[in-house]
Amino acid sequence: MRRGIIALAAAGLLAVTGLTACGDDDGGDGGSADKTPKIGVILPDSKSSARWETADRKYLEEAFKAAGVQYDIQNAQNDKQAFQTIADQMISSGVTALMIVNLDSGTGKAVLDKAKQQGVATIDYDRLTLGGSASYYVSFDNVAVGKLQGEGLVKCLQAQNKTKPVVAYVNGSPTDNNATLFKQGYDGVIKAKFDAGEYTKGPDQAVPDWDNAQAQTIFEQMFTSTGGKIDGVLAANDGLGNSVINVLKKNNLNGKVPVTGQDATVQGLQNILNGDQCMTVYKAIKKEADAAAELAIALAKGEKKDTGKTVKDTEGNRDVPAVLLAPEAITKENVKKVVDDGFVTKAELCTGAFAAKCTEAGI
Ligand code: BGC
Repeated sequence: MRRGIIALAAAGLLAVTGLTACGDDDGGDGGSADKTPKIGVILPDSKSSARWETADRKYLEEAFKAAGVQYDIQNAQNDKQAFQTIADQMISSGVTALMIVNLDSGTGKAVLDKAKQQGVATIDYDRLTLGGSASYYVSFDNVAVGKLQGEGLVKCLQAQNKTKPVVAYVNGSPTDNNATLFKQGYDGVIKAKFDAGEYTKGPDQAVPDWDNAQAQTIFEQMFTSTGGKIDGVLAANDGLGNSVINVLKKNNLNGKVPVTGQDATVQGLQNILNGDQCMTVYKAIKKEADAAAELAIALAKGEKKDTGKTVKDTEGNRDVPAVLLAPEAITKENVKKVVDDGFVTKAELCTGAFAAKCTEAGI
């Protein structure tokens, strides 16, 4: 028993301090000690969130360069066919580790399985491929992300003293496992309010591919179908939140209807400074990229690391070794945190009319 506790404590410590090496057998997990290590990364698109090109690519590149390892980072631009083609090219060009952000689990699985067959080690980056075969999963605690969004919306509604507010959900892509986890997190907070009769459940819809333009149409329809009676919106990321805000602006309701977000994008943070968005979730992508790069470099060299943690792939009924980082809620009060962390620069955030708002927010 005692030993169990010590072992658990040690595992917890590992999770905080980082990853540990655990042997370097070449046990069929891909990667090879005799090939030149080279890492391939496939990003999903550049429109569903600014993060992929402005943060993930940048931080991954920095980590690979610092380690002096060869790499190739490409973006599938939301095209499933292109995703497969890029993967095929990377595999034939001799990558020894492949990191993907899937566009859906089916396409992701096909790529991961093919890589595995060719002896290429794989990592699911940010999105878990259900039924897939990746050696590792590196992401944030995505249920915790959703919980922060739910709690954030509750606080903003409280601040506005709304009685029995109607709350609408604008969810992420139905093919992104993260969107399911985010919803699990925020619904866990807000459903209790619906059940207690404190809130009224409004429209609840997913946005295919996280497409911002579609989100705007979807929210316009939500707004019309309820006769404009929506008091708060749980939007799953900053892009979707901005689409909702566009509709609210047309109806002079921006700032009066709290809207959530995620990713701490420049646009999301500016919407917060304006008072049009109530919160966002900051995910320190540098940490995510660093952890994934560290694993990819180890795999690419034919080594293995112990993450001290696993997540369950319910479809494949498999425990996937995982690194899950902690997200953080951002409101007007702590926008500064994101700038201090170097995630966005003061120059890009505090442009034009935002300069005064930044000063107000202590930035
Ligand atoms: C990511 C979010 C992102 C969304 C749209 C999710 O899988 O975790 O950070 O906003 O995809 O790209």
